[in-house]
Amino acid sequence: MSTANYIFTETQYAQELERLQAIEKIFDPTSCQRLESTGITTNWRCLEVGAGAGSIARWMADAVGESGQVVAVDLDTRFVAKLEAKNVEVLEGNIQHLPLEKQSFDLVHARYVLVHNPDAHAVLSRVLDLVKPGGWIVLEEPDFAAARAIAGEDSACQSVNNVNQAIEKMFTARGMDYGLGAKLPALLQSYDLQSFAVEVDTHLSQGGAGIATMMHMSTVQLAEKYFATGAVTQRDIDNYGRFAEDPKAWAIYYATVGVIAQKQ
Ligand SMILES: C[S@@+](CC[C@H](N)C(=O)[O-])C[C@H]1O[C@@H](n2cnc3c(N)ncnc32)[C@H](O)[C@@H]1O
Repeated sequence: MSTANYIFTETQYAQELERLQAIEKIFDPTSCQRLESTGITTNWRCLEVGAGAGSIARWMADAVGESGQVVAVDLDTRFVAKLEAKNVEVLEGNIQHLPLEKQSFDLVHARYVLVHNPDAHAVLSRVLDLVKPGGWIVLEEPDFAAARAIAGEDSACQSVNNVNQAIEKMFTARGMDYGLGAKLPALLQSYDLQSFAVEVDTHLSQGGAGIATMMHMSTVQLAEKYFATGAVTQRDIDNYGRFAEDPKAWAIYYATVGVIAQKQ
């Protein structure tokens, strides 16, 4: 995949940074628990794939200390360039093509990255190639098939469900799987892995905060792409925004599937 394919490439710097930082605020505590469960410690060499706004790469750099190393990779490193430090290397490019040494990482983490790749299986193979024998992967991917409006005004619920359909169509038209997260455990079964743990987080989210507000930001940024699917109108986008900011409206916006596994 190139930056041209990534759905958020054309978004404004400030808007996209705000969206990525909202993701970090909501999901970092759980991601860090998963990373901690691998035993991450000083000296480890870690890879953050799709570093986004960089909070996990920063957290890993603290965990591995000066004797360790973190490599932060993204197609677009505009938000992480400043992370570069003695124990942090920032690399811009597609994880599939960057010249990284095979079997050289103790831990590789990626959150909401594979789903954006039409060749997600190839990206997964590449990620696993980079892990040392006995090293760990922590992968966290969304399952948008879990999305549905639960409570709110009827017409707003309908618009939320229309936007969810647009999300599915947009991913499908780009050769991507909007339900990838749910398939991750099965995909990983064909690799030599041990200590295989699967966790699913399905937030039932209230409007006006957290995931609802973050998904509102995504919807505003991606509205043109949703219109192109034919599944939504401007009214749906407006209704979605009102729903997402309404404390009386509840929805599941997506589920996150986390897999923690050790390479044999
Ligand atoms: C939805 S954002 C998530 C950012 C971050 N992982 C987080 O959860 O806060 C996905 C990020 O992955 C990057 N990305 C997607 N596919 C990639 C690939 N094949 N190689 C490197 N980066 C990739 C995108 O550029 C984007 O910054």
